[in-house]
Amino acid sequence: MRLLERAWRSLFAAHPPPWVRPVRLKVERVIGRGNPLTGRRMETDMTCFTSDAANAAPRNCILQGDCIDLMRALPAGSADFILTDPPYIARFRDRQGRTVANDDNGRWLVPAVREMHRVLKPGGFCVSFYGWSHVDRFVQAWRGAGFRIVGHIVFRKRYASSTRFLSYEHEQAYLLAKGDVCPPEKPIPDVIDFPYTGNRLHPTQKPVRALMPLIECFSKPGELVLDPFCGSGSTLVAARNLGRDWLGCELSAEHHATATQRLSGAQRVA
Ligand SMILES: C[S@@+](CC[C@H](N)C(=O)[O-])C[C@H]1O[C@@H](n2cnc3c(N)ncnc32)[C@H](O)[C@@H]1O
Repeated sequence: MRLLERAWRSLFAAHPPPWVRPVRLKVERVIGRGNPLTGRRMETDMTCFTSDAANAAPRNCILQGDCIDLMRALPAGSADFILTDPPYIARFRDRQGRTVANDDNGRWLVPAVREMHRVLKPGGFCVSFYGWSHVDRFVQAWRGAGFRIVGHIVFRKRYASSTRFLSYEHEQAYLLAKGDVCPPEKPIPDVIDFPYTGNRLHPTQKPVRALMPLIECFSKPGELVLDPFCGSGSTLVAARNLGRDWLGCELSAEHHATATQRLSGAQRVA
């Protein structure tokens, strides 16, 4: 499969179809601290593809850096659907002491949401996870950027992430709309099962299986799905599994390397 993928890539790069221009946006050799699964060091090298149309974003690659700056470089209206899982502003720390960058402050929230709104196509949807303890800040940022709230999704866990005043057994996201949107052909339930991932690739790894119904509902095959806070790349894997193009941004070099490696094979990933 790897060989086929490589052959396809080199053929594609050497003889691109007329509507597509392969662009080595930034030839990256990313060396992470190690694959969380195998413990081996990771080396990845990725080519982004973009169409010749002026209004196109790079496709099928993961950019490393602050998503606010990275999104500023993307054309307005170039993403068809945004599915993202930003920091919850909850000072997260797991049992192994792992933390999430920017989870200790909300300074990124308003500028990032503003860019997400600009980059999303008019008539497009965004699904954003959020931290319930700061729902007011998230809602203010979304409305301030121009998003309309058109739904709320509960992800039901069969386990508790923590227990204090309650046994906390769900994750949550809002469905946001930009401008005049058409309802999807087949609306999905707003309660979705959330299997446990084991968080081996990322301290707050989302299950691909819970993300796929959202991508299937709010985008079409071949469209571009953007995740500006992509972590280990779960959204991007879900998008690729469904035949969508994908684009991720990630601040941490370690998670960027994990996501890049996860997306570098051609096979379907859970
Ligand atoms: C909640 S995690 C996403 C986890 C992801 N859904 C997964 O399944 O692996 C949020 C991610 O956003 C990244 N992040 C935080 N601030 C960022 C920024 N300004 N630009 C890009 N990424 C950022 C963090 O490093 C973290 O990996």
